[in-house]
Amino acid sequence: MNIQPILEVEDFSKTFILHEQGKSLPSSQSVFLKAFPGRLTALIGPTGAGKSTVLKGIYRTYLPTSGRIMFTTGQGQILDLALADEHKILELRQEEIGFVTQFLHTLPRQSTEDVVAMPLIKEGVPHDIALEKARDILGKLNLPERLWAVSPATFSGGEKQRVNLARGLLAQPRLLLLDEPTASLDAKTTDRVIELIQNLKETGTAMIAIFHDMDLVKKLADDVVKLEPPVGTEHFFNSNTNEVA
Ligand SMILES: Nc1ncnc2c1ncn2[C@@H]1O[C@H](COP(=O)(O)OP(=O)(O)OP(=O)(O)O)[C@@H](O)[C@H]1O
Ligand SMILES: [Mg+2]
Repeated sequence: MNIQPILEVEDFSKTFILHEQGKSLPSSQSVFLKAFPGRLTALIGPTGAGKSTVLKGIYRTYLPTSGRIMFTTGQGQILDLALADEHKILELRQEEIGFVTQFLHTLPRQSTEDVVAMPLIKEGVPHDIALEKARDILGKLNLPERLWAVSPATFSGGEKQRVNLARGLLAQPRLLLLDEPTASLDAKTTDRVIELIQNLKETGTAMIAIFHDMDLVKKLADDVVKLEPPVGTEHFFNSNTNEVA
């Protein structure tokens, strides 16, 4: 394959130190993965294998214990996200790297449509156009219209996940991290998410997504990385066959 990766994670490991309990807890161990423009790398493996920890390391919620996280910016600068300063990380989160987590953290007074439109408004898209796009994607994700003008703070798990996805997908970052994006969704909404992810691939977005559902992996993944607790990773290459080994 001759396209260049936008992200290369090399030998990423994270051990949590539980000071109060005097213990250390190995999480992700020696993980290698790459993300490419217009392709989706699926991260699979059993509960506790350290999948979410890898995504949080890339987003710099956590610092890795060891390893390199080489990211190529839109300007062509190559930097190690494990070493980049806080200011640069915040800038990248605003402009280039998105994260749809399993949880939604929002301010209680912000309306759902504003939450979803916010990344576009920050990018300079006029407010009315950003709101129109936000409503369009909320409709596509089957979030009932009566909820658009209220805060998502009290939404159900599935409703919150729709808002989180709407915001993450609409922002169109260069690299999008997705942690079990369809875990709380019904079958119809899951199909919409599949469609939206496929559309996003066509725009050149690189994605790394955690899935437990192998059916989704078959439908969406171009590359598959399997994490095994506690030692090492296995790699499968999906190519055009969409076969998961
Ligand atoms: N902040 C933390 N402090 C201590 N231990 C942690 C922390 N975050 C994760 N861990 C531990 O690291 C291990 C891997 O957690 P992680 O959330 O990455 O797993 P996962 O592969 O995403 O699992 P799941 O499929 O259940 O979401 C777990 O044993 C977890 O208890
Ligand atoms: Mg997880």
